[in-house]
Amino acid sequence: MSAAIAVLISGRGRNLQAIARACADGRVDGRIVVVVSNRVEADGLRYARQQGIETTVLSHRDYPDRESYDRALMAVLDRHAPDVVALAGFMRILTPPFVAHYRGRLLNIHPSLLPRHPGLDTHRRALVAGDVEHGATVHFVTEQLDGGPAIIQGKLNVHAQDTEATLAERVMNEIELKIYPQALAWLARGDVALDDGAVRFRGRHLDAPLGLDALEAAFR
Ligand code: GRF
Repeated sequence: MSAAIAVLISGRGRNLQAIARACADGRVDGRIVVVVSNRVEADGLRYARQQGIETTVLSHRDYPDRESYDRALMAVLDRHAPDVVALAGFMRILTPPFVAHYRGRLLNIHPSLLPRHPGLDTHRRALVAGDVEHGATVHFVTEQLDGGPAIIQGKLNVHAQDTEATLAERVMNEIELKIYPQALAWLARGDVALDDGAVRFRGRHLDAPLGLDALEAAFR
């Protein structure tokens, strides 16, 4: 049975598109059962509708607090019985009950070499800090913001002429759009799992995230 994947977005949805393509061409043994956005104007919604993927807008403005929003979000998601919930540029901090409910099937992509630069403005912060390397990380989500066990992390060298915009673009194209579909392919296949707070990959615990060299040919 292919994995039922729910994708949560707030914006452009480039990661969503990469995931959808990988499902459509069979690289991920899964199908996107719903795309949920907290912002009605998210461009990714238009893409999902064009692809015939079911979409739901759930605006955080309609809820008094995080707890009630997350309860409503869980209700929407659970109608689709997701095996995997993929956060793809979903700009919301999730409450502990939400995280607990989807533990082991909740993934996020973060545009930095975690644990460096959790939170926002990662590309600017990498430049300000003079980092020589930067990148992106796919990790299981835990209660700690951007702190869950990492599955795969892609690195690139920061160039002297990089700006926040060029760095964001290179991290997206050279790393994010490759590592997220790959991580989902592994999860859907059962190659990767959250086990006792650590990542198990093909039967052994990882003590560091996998790198770009672990990408299968179809994901490079
Ligand atoms: C990506 O950089 C992702 O890592 C971050 O938000 C951005 C979303 O971009 N969390 P998109 O919506 O996938 O185009």
